[in-house]
Amino acid sequence: MIQVSNLSFSYTRQPFISDMSFFVSSGEIFGFLGPSGAGKSTLQKVLIGMLTAYQGSAMVNGIECRHRTRRFYEDIGVDFEFSTMYEKLTAKENLQFFSSLYEKKTRPIDELLEMVGLEHDGDKRVADYSKGMKSRLNFIKALLHDPLLLCLDEPTSGLDPTNSRMMKNMILAERAKGKTILLTTHNMQDAAELCDRVAFIVNGKICALDSPHNLIMSKGAATVTYTWIDNGEHSASCPIDRLSDDEQLKRLIANNCLQSIHSSEPNLNDIFMDITGRTLL
Ligand SMILES: Nc1ncnc2c1ncn2[C@@H]1O[C@H](COP(=O)(O)OP(=O)(O)O)[C@@H](O)[C@H]1O
Ligand SMILES: [Mg+2]
Repeated sequence: MIQVSNLSFSYTRQPFISDMSFFVSSGEIFGFLGPSGAGKSTLQKVLIGMLTAYQGSAMVNGIECRHRTRRFYEDIGVDFEFSTMYEKLTAKENLQFFSSLYEKKTRPIDELLEMVGLEHDGDKRVADYSKGMKSRLNFIKALLHDPLLLCLDEPTSGLDPTNSRMMKNMILAERAKGKTILLTTHNMQDAAELCDRVAFIVNGKICALDSPHNLIMSKGAATVTYTWIDNGEHSASCPIDRLSDDEQLKRLIANNCLQSIHSSEPNLNDIFMDITGRTLL
């Protein structure tokens, strides 16, 4: 669905995206994970044909992005980081207007509003919407024309846990329908939960690219920590792939003396810090 080769882009003389190459397969949720200012939104803007003065190649759905025509947008849905609605119009009026821009038949507006719990707010002006309501409205705007590729820029940012869960379920439902999803985020949990593969982006460069599972495993084995009581509480740790060498643990198991045992895996944030030397905020 997406093939990027040696892509570079700059707003000024300073490079913002430098020499990126990657691909995204159809039906994949692909994440751009990186701190604020890393270049994630800029990259997304190249891929949706908004920034065309780039070097290298960015092919989306078989079309070089700088040569996009109107047809390009029939198959791409974009949920921008910030609300792109007309504030003086109601939600329904906005969705009707954006529907009218597509050649293909669009999805029923009432159904989309209901999907995100806005069925009773369709006739309210967007100016009177809360931030979370705007996020949900922005998201269904991207779904209006049932696109093959969904580009979502920080879709869960500013949402409460319930709405964030709803949004994530809808993203997974789109993938189940065979859609490709490009997810831009600085939220490590979202990336780990949703993405088939993630690219770590820092200072306009991809520092790592793999499935969240492989990235986490690259740090090495998880650690098992166990406790027991023997004249007071004791605890010890051992890498999970060396458990059979741990004589003390074997003895405690044989005598049913363990009080607790748990394993702790590194999370994607630990890996991100390891690889990039930076946190995600
Ligand atoms: N229109 C613009 N003109 C000049 N610089 C910009 C513009 N948009 C973004 N930038 C700069 O490009 C860098 C990357 O921004 P952005 O892609 O929005 O990062 P992210 O989405 O990862 O937070 C930042 O340093 C930002 O200040
Ligand atoms: Mg951004």
